[in-house]
Amino acid sequence: MTDLTFVSTNPGKAREVAAVLHPYGVRVRWKRRELPEPQASTLEEVVAAKLDAVRDLRGRVLVEDSGLFIPSLRGFPGVYSAHFLKIWKFGPIFELLRARPRGAYFRTVAGLQEGRRRAMFAGEVRGSIARRPAGRNGFGYDPIFVPVGWVRTFAEAPVEAKNRISHRSRAIRKVGEAMAGGRPFG
Ligand code: IMP
Repeated sequence: MTDLTFVSTNPGKAREVAAVLHPYGVRVRWKRRELPEPQASTLEEVVAAKLDAVRDLRGRVLVEDSGLFIPSLRGFPGVYSAHFLKIWKFGPIFELLRARPRGAYFRTVAGLQEGRRRAMFAGEVRGSIARRPAGRNGFGYDPIFVPVGWVRTFAEAPVEAKNRISHRSRAIRKVGEAMAGGRPFG
């Protein structure tokens, strides 16, 4: 087994990351730490700032950042997903999408760092915004996101079903493959 420290304040994400990486022979230690979320235009910039903030940690360290992107709203809320949800919830999105295409995708960028070396891995899941919120599982935008090929939202599905196809699990599986291949920094 190789060890990896996952830094986040979210225990749910830590459990998901540990479950996804276990089959790759990676043991995940969760370190709870508040990380900077600068106003930036890409997830990659946010992840780079988070990696800068964990330089003091030894060994392999993993951080991630995610967002919901709606192409008909020019990618909004995107990197502002967390701020937007906290202040406005779902109302304005439903309002804005009354006359616009409802396609959307979640995207995660995971950042792996060891000493001076770092690498980023992205994962996405495509879908659409539901007509109304449904379901109690998951978190964040899960009640309004219907993945392609599903008729229900992420929040209506068991967490294992979401994790099989989620943006985060797709990005983290790439981390696992790179680590299992022995050259995670290329
Ligand atoms: P962060 O990566 O924790 O900063 O997430 C940004 C925002 O996207 C937060 O408001 C989350 O609620 C939302 N988000 C991230 N991942 C998911 C997910 O898997 N489902 C639903 N919402 C998510």
